[in-house]
Amino acid sequence: MKNYVNKELLEETLELKRQKNALVLAHYYVPSETQAAADFVCDSFEMAKRARSADKDLVVICGVSFMGESAKILSPQKKVLLPVPEATCPMADMVSPEQIADYRKLHPEAAVVCYVNSTAAVKAVSDICCTSASAEKVVGSLENKEIVFVPDQHLGSYVAEKFPDKTFYLHKGFCPRHHAVTEADVLKAKEAHPDCALAVHPECRTEVVKHADFVGSTSGIIDFAKKTDAPGVIICTENEITEILRRELPEKEIWPVKRSFICQNMKKVTLESLRDCLKYERYEVTLSDEEIAAAKAALDKMVKV
Ligand code: 13P
Ligand code: SF4
Repeated sequence: MKNYVNKELLEETLELKRQKNALVLAHYYVPSETQAAADFVCDSFEMAKRARSADKDLVVICGVSFMGESAKILSPQKKVLLPVPEATCPMADMVSPEQIADYRKLHPEAAVVCYVNSTAAVKAVSDICCTSASAEKVVGSLENKEIVFVPDQHLGSYVAEKFPDKTFYLHKGFCPRHHAVTEADVLKAKEAHPDCALAVHPECRTEVVKHADFVGSTSGIIDFAKKTDAPGVIICTENEITEILRRELPEKEIWPVKRSFICQNMKKVTLESLRDCLKYERYEVTLSDEEIAAAKAALDKMVKV
């Protein structure tokens, strides 16, 4: 599929980025036009790390709102902007600080591990954060025998399998997009492309993950597709990853597990919204000092691990 970039709009956005001396980070799921104007296109873990080490005072996060919050928490002295603050991750809203307090009462010995797809308020009451790329390492770094994992039940079960000596209490949250992929979808794709390897994001259901040749974050999937000896790869995550790989690996067969695998909220972050964000220096992420301090402890621990 060809990508038609509005060159004038791209130039105007790049010029504004230069004038404002801004760092623009884009998640792989935002539209390719928006990615074209970014300094780095990354998974959520790399985004968090780059926001922290950035030497610029203005950082624009092209992604969903928790990604902007994470950048602000890690770099409170910087001005962090989100082009579309109403682009949220529905999974992030599936757990509340009150629910974490209930888990703590029920399991006082447990460490609360919070997937980075969560609100700042939830991070603030968790012990440590993780991303899909870092979840295994994060849990492995903890001495606790009991783990409360929020909000993604599927990433939680995937990690739990790696630690049979620990007891996991999984919150029942999920990503509506990854959760919607069924085992039947996967079997159908494998039947249609029998020589292709299957790469799956761990936000998918266990019965989908079990068929995977590779399970990992968005950047992990991209690396796997580049390195595998298989003649092609079936991509079981958001369709933008399929499009990126088709452009980067024209010699390989790259197939989406199903056509309609689209995170509508990420798609709201258009190039036009990025242009306006830079032009008007809007919309700034604001969090209270207390929330930043508490959430920072959990995010810092993850970045250190
Ligand atoms: P990554 O951590 O792989 O970037 O994934 C974030 C996300 O929202 C996946 O749905
Ligand atoms: Fe959230 Fe799912 Fe979109 Fe990722 S793909 S941002 S988990 S809704």
